[in-house]
Amino acid sequence: MSSTITLEKIVALCKRRGFVFSSAEIYSGINGVYDFGPLGAQMKRLLKTAWLKHMQSFSEDVLEMDGALLGPAATWKASGHLDNFSDPMIDCTSCKKRFRADDGSVDPQKPCPSCGNKAWTDVRRFNLMFETNLGALVDADAKAYLRPETAQSIFINFKNILSSCRVKVPFGIAQIGKAFRNEITPRQFVFRVREFEQMEMEFFCKPEQSDEYFTIWLDRQKSFYLSLGFAPESFRFRPHDADELAHYSKNCTDVEFHFPMGWKELEGIAHRGAFDLTQHSQHSGKDLSVFEQENNRSYMPHVVECSVGVDRLFLAVLCNAYYEDIVEGEARVLLKLPMSLAPIQVAVLSLVKKLNDATHPVVALLKAAGLRVQFDDSGSIGKRYRRYDEIGTPYCVTVDFNTLEDKCVTIRNRDTLEQTRVPLTEIVRVLTA
Ligand code: GAP
Repeated sequence: MSSTITLEKIVALCKRRGFVFSSAEIYSGINGVYDFGPLGAQMKRLLKTAWLKHMQSFSEDVLEMDGALLGPAATWKASGHLDNFSDPMIDCTSCKKRFRADDGSVDPQKPCPSCGNKAWTDVRRFNLMFETNLGALVDADAKAYLRPETAQSIFINFKNILSSCRVKVPFGIAQIGKAFRNEITPRQFVFRVREFEQMEMEFFCKPEQSDEYFTIWLDRQKSFYLSLGFAPESFRFRPHDADELAHYSKNCTDVEFHFPMGWKELEGIAHRGAFDLTQHSQHSGKDLSVFEQENNRSYMPHVVECSVGVDRLFLAVLCNAYYEDIVEGEARVLLKLPMSLAPIQVAVLSLVKKLNDATHPVVALLKAAGLRVQFDDSGSIGKRYRRYDEIGTPYCVTVDFNTLEDKCVTIRNRDTLEQTRVPLTEIVRVLTA
């Protein structure tokens, strides 16, 4: 990461190049909600695919599911979210600004940082779940909530999956999907938002194996981040102190990333014990325990959870990849994205528009080889190189007049700036090496 990286630079790049936009921008936006443009959507898709592949490469089974976004009040009562999923908030009665009371943004002993008056309400708890009603009737039975985490749909389907999918404990269930939290103060771009995607994997095991699996998943997640190209010094593991643990958790370690605004949580790896299955058994009246024939015993599986936000991971990947340098006396911004995460892997450029007919077959060749390719014929070659550096494209392939004679193209490497003349028959091999 360059020493001058700031969140503002990342935000500006994301907007300029079509990664991320404020949602409903033409109507002045909606706070804490973002839309992902073509490059951002592609990069998120690549991250999700990499995560699921990583999960499913584990020696034990990890099955995928896709649960509903709406859940009845009963689910959230059992999970503890109705009673516990709240943040403390405080309002300035003078300027009406609202703050979280536990994140250091205000000190009730001091004046409001917004208007300078000292006129605070009491601190109140604010539940972060979005509430809605199903159907036309507005009564207690019609109440539903947008899920604040994907995990609960895994727990309430545990028995369905166990009995229908020929799996045995230990095994995992992974899910990628939207979650919603009415954050009091969404901020820091896509780091803390109100609508986001989570990638969660709940690993079910015998109680006596749970500490061992907790350690195994800590190790596996470390290798996941290294496989995404994270510099080893850019992330660290921080075990929670006892007073920080969530209501469901016996033990938890955060994977923290060094964002421009400091060390912050990227992923939570939690030992959830038998909390969730026990709660749902008690509240639903359905027995979610497992019978073990060999030992003639029933037990409630314990759970190790890996939970990371796609949007937050997306931001971490951009921060890890962001560099600035000087090339031929000109400032350059580049994203050193690995080939596997680059939304566009190869830009194919015709030196001048006259060469477009010779360039299109090169585009077709690379697309047929499964590469993510963009054709570009506008602007000077230098400007085009800068554009693709900025969106993290590892290679530019240029078709020039000599190509018509020697059937070779120039491949330019984003990071080394090296330019190599390569025969058309060799370019797929060179680009995928
Ligand atoms: N099931 C456990 C759980 O949801 P969490 O620590 O509240 O735990 C897990 O959330 C991860 O989800 C976080 O580490 C973060 O990556 C992501 N996340 C949580 N709240 C978020 C928000 N408001 N905006 C973006 N990502 C969020």
